[in-house]
Amino acid sequence: MASTRRGLPAFSFERFVFFSRAIRTGRALPSGDMQIMIEYAEIHADEAKQQFGDICRLTIACVADGASIGFIDASDGDAIVRFWLGALESLERGERRIWLACHEGKVVGTVTLAQSMMPNGRHRAEVAKLMVHPQARRQGIARELMQRAEQAAWEKSLSLLVLDTRSGDPATALYLSLGWQIAGEIPDYAQSTMGAFDATTLMYKTAAPGIS
Ligand SMILES: CC(C)(COP(=O)(O)OP(=O)(O)OC[C@H]1O[C@@H](n2cnc3c(N)ncnc32)[C@H](O)[C@@H]1OP(=O)(O)O)[C@@H](O)C(=O)NCCC(=O)NCCS
Repeated sequence: MASTRRGLPAFSFERFVFFSRAIRTGRALPSGDMQIMIEYAEIHADEAKQQFGDICRLTIACVADGASIGFIDASDGDAIVRFWLGALESLERGERRIWLACHEGKVVGTVTLAQSMMPNGRHRAEVAKLMVHPQARRQGIARELMQRAEQAAWEKSLSLLVLDTRSGDPATALYLSLGWQIAGEIPDYAQSTMGAFDATTLMYKTAAPGIS
């Protein structure tokens, strides 16, 4: 395998981590070495089964890093596996769609679009479980995943997207930059990995006129 002058293989996960860290910390990068290959794809049930372990590992890494994504204990792998098994079933039923971001086949990010199943809510979906591996952040991966999920929603003629996010988390800046609106805040909404009860911010985005 080809090596860089820093002795890292040309397209290894280690190299990817090295560059993500460098980007996050503002460390100078060698010129011409910025090409990090990320592949994005919507996955179907069969592919989700193949990537199941990786998706669970990504979730565990994010929870261990303190993410507020429904779980409070990264060592409770059972809860995470149970959640994703249920998500897989709803993917098979066509109730949700899942996108992955991968680096060399390794899952480094994901987002879910969960269609409302109520007769009065067929025009809307919830964006959920947006997460990027702690070592792969600040490279636009979440932005790309969000844009893909939004585009797919508008193409299916959905007209309303909703989500909730822990108040004060960096994700809010991403959503605002993508044109999401804040609907309000609920105090003490979810327990954090540290035990405290955090407020959540409810957000929504409507399809631009002429898109649906
Ligand atoms: C939120 C999260 C998905 C962002 O992933 P990411 O790939 O690093 O995000 P991007 O690189 O696409 O950043 C997009 C924008 O988000 C904002 N942002 C992301 N991380 C940020 C941070 N640490 N501090 C401030 N702003 C941040 C910025 O506006 C950024 O745009 P910019 O880079 O042009 O300034 C990631 O931090 C994560 O997985 N967090 C834990 C899980 C979570 O909280 N998910 C959201 C649930 S609602």
